[in-house]
Amino acid sequence: MNAHAHPPVALNAPNYVKNPKLIAWVGDMVALCKPAAIHWCDGSEEEYQHLCELLVKNGTFKKLNPKLRPNSFLACSDPSDVARVEDRTYICSKDKNQAGPTNNWVDPAEMRKTLHPLFDGCMAGRTMYVVPFSMGPLNSPISHIGIELSDSPYVAVNMRMMTRMGKPVYDVIGAEGEFVPCIHTVGAPLSNGAKDSTWPCNKTKYIVHYPETREIWSYGSGYGGNALLGKKCFALRIASTMGHDEGWLAEHMLILGVASPEGKKYHVAAAFPSACGKTNFAMLIPPKGFEGWTVTTIGDDIAWIKPGADGRLYAINPEAGYFGVAPGTNYETNPNCMKSLNENVIFTNVALTDEGDVWWEGMGPQPAHCIDWQGNEWTPAIAQSTGAKAAHPNARFTVPAVNNPAIDSAWDDPKGVAIDAFIFGGRRSTTVPLVTQARNWTEGVYMAATMGSETTAAATGAQGVVRRDPFAMLPFTGYNMSDYFQHWLDMGDKLAAAGSKLPQIFTTNWFRKGPDGKFVWPGYGENMRVLKWMIDRIEGRAKGVEHAFGISPSYGEINWNGLDFDQSKFDQVTNTDKDLLISELKLHSELFDQLSYHLPKALTQTKEKIEERLNA
Ligand code: OXD
Ligand code: MN
Repeated sequence: MNAHAHPPVALNAPNYVKNPKLIAWVGDMVALCKPAAIHWCDGSEEEYQHLCELLVKNGTFKKLNPKLRPNSFLACSDPSDVARVEDRTYICSKDKNQAGPTNNWVDPAEMRKTLHPLFDGCMAGRTMYVVPFSMGPLNSPISHIGIELSDSPYVAVNMRMMTRMGKPVYDVIGAEGEFVPCIHTVGAPLSNGAKDSTWPCNKTKYIVHYPETREIWSYGSGYGGNALLGKKCFALRIASTMGHDEGWLAEHMLILGVASPEGKKYHVAAAFPSACGKTNFAMLIPPKGFEGWTVTTIGDDIAWIKPGADGRLYAINPEAGYFGVAPGTNYETNPNCMKSLNENVIFTNVALTDEGDVWWEGMGPQPAHCIDWQGNEWTPAIAQSTGAKAAHPNARFTVPAVNNPAIDSAWDDPKGVAIDAFIFGGRRSTTVPLVTQARNWTEGVYMAATMGSETTAAATGAQGVVRRDPFAMLPFTGYNMSDYFQHWLDMGDKLAAAGSKLPQIFTTNWFRKGPDGKFVWPGYGENMRVLKWMIDRIEGRAKGVEHAFGISPSYGEINWNGLDFDQSKFDQVTNTDKDLLISELKLHSELFDQLSYHLPKALTQTKEKIEERLNA
């Protein structure tokens, strides 16, 4: 019998699910996707263990040696399904201009016509998991609820770590509460008795957002941000639209707390493009010379920020776990992260050692032998002769935030934390100084809007091509980027009009290179020196040096205790070259030309002022 011909499964919604709209939607999706079974996730530990066992039985998971990595698993994906697929990601607003020139757009009616036949019967032979989740602490006024329907148990167990997932979510939405409906399928229906693949997926992929109806439809991928729909799809693309409509911000930002030896605490939200060390910065350990300082993590990737009654901006981390890049992580670059990975971890696309543990490039000494992420034998000799990587460069760990020894005591506080400063960090080998403070909010928005990130040869074949990544949100803003800039400007105006003290805005660049092509700034924990200068600026203790783009530190304003970094090195990471800055401004013009529809005048005016200062 054809799998499609099965009678529809009974919904069997548990009695604690009291939301008729939700039940009706699940019913519609069951009728469309035609799963063989339905599992309402309760988020319990037993359920988690049961699903992990199922994943081991299916061959998707390998259980790691419990003596070395207790309660941890390794999943290896299909080699065609290893990363987010930006070119298959769509913002389907009614009006093309609403999506803007930086998003892929298709008319929503047309997209629905395309997706309908793909979703029809897409879950045949599989179980549909109903995954209720809260982005942010349950019942926080900053949080929002989503329900993901997925035919991937890998998604269900990852969502349990990455969000507050389970039964209590139904109490939050009650009978009438709102939720963002997220439907996900790997796009690999199973006909009766067919053997499943260990990583089912489809060559065809669609990651679709309907901002007006706040829906997410994901087809064909089981990986990361394509499939764990709470993260980039909801917490950034849909939430940025919600924030625009409702007066708040959904940002691609880590959130950290930094406390002085006197016990004064500050909170900083920082945006860096993907793969620029956000997790490292969020878990920074203050270096020698900073005794008594502590840095604690509230979030490592996303911040939801709403104005509080006192006019300050309050931020939560909508996530409950970290989905971080493993390669390059080690006890030197990020000891807190390594300690977070000791137990209760799901690894994806790293290598399996002969002892039943994991390994990745940049973790530490090479093993004599392991099985690479594609299941092949791997030895240092093989790597040398073929260039084969043991771990995929985008290999990941999924881990609960509470594993982090540097977790902030307020990380789960429904009130959020009051933000003192925003950082926007580019990745540039030349031109942009180590750190610059904006003289005012508008100049800060300009800095963030024009942020650039240099591509690496590995990704594009062309070293040093600067990709503009406004606010580190290029792939994540769910609406027109120029309207998003205006939203930030409006937010500043609104807070200022209410008499509140706005957060200071800084831009950083840890990535300047010397004539030898090597990074000059040591980075990692040493970034604390820059963080401390920002605090000194906030407190009015550092004067800084004013230049065309803003205010940067003088050599003497940085605490150099414990680091050998002389004035000439400092000059290499802070100097500004007039010719390079003039060409930089040309690149800003190119961006502004691309974004000319609705581009705020305040930004072109800021650019003119910078040009005047540069030519003065
Ligand atoms: C991420 C990203 O995975 O930004 O966090 O790509
Ligand atoms: Mn990210």
